[in-house]
Amino acid sequence: MGSLVVLISGRGSNLQAILESPVGGQVTAVFSDHVQAGGLDIARRFGKPVHVCPFTTGRRDSEHALTRQIKPYRPDLIALAGFMRVLSADFIAAHGGRLVNIHPSLLPEFRGLHTHRRVLAAGTKEHGCTVHWVTAELDGGDIIAQSRLTVRPDDDEAGLAARVLTLEHRLYPQVLAQLLNKEEQDIA
Ligand code: GRF
Repeated sequence: MGSLVVLISGRGSNLQAILESPVGGQVTAVFSDHVQAGGLDIARRFGKPVHVCPFTTGRRDSEHALTRQIKPYRPDLIALAGFMRVLSADFIAAHGGRLVNIHPSLLPEFRGLHTHRRVLAAGTKEHGCTVHWVTAELDGGDIIAQSRLTVRPDDDEAGLAARVLTLEHRLYPQVLAQLLNKEEQDIA
């Protein structure tokens, strides 16, 4: 059975959705760059080992520290779930082909931050979320799966964010399970 580590920075609602799903049992550790991240308590509640890697020593050294801490877990996949740091090309290469992310827009549209606000400002009618491979290009890696909704005339930023988040919580665990199971089939 493939294993998964999850990287977070904040409240951890996607982490919670993963842990509550069938793939939750395959999560071997949770890492955060913030000691205060709410998701750390969620991970502890599920009995998962947690590690804080505070990125206080510059990106290069901090990423080396993170890689060192991840290494013993030998994960088949590393899922970014609200991990709010841009990772270097070196880090991404070191974990080649194992890093996935969820982004709250229908990529390639609306890369970067404040996607819901920007969708509303642009008057875009369709919105959603994307699970994609992580490459050195920000939010630019190959798309694995998307989930979409229709923007309503009465949507405000908070309401739209909440509706997209509901999609994220369904999509991410499903995709992670598929990727981990696929890995198993490849080995068999
Ligand atoms: C989610 O919207 C995710 O798509 C984005 O950051 C947010 C994290 O939320 N990358 P949470 O910490 O999982 O609640």
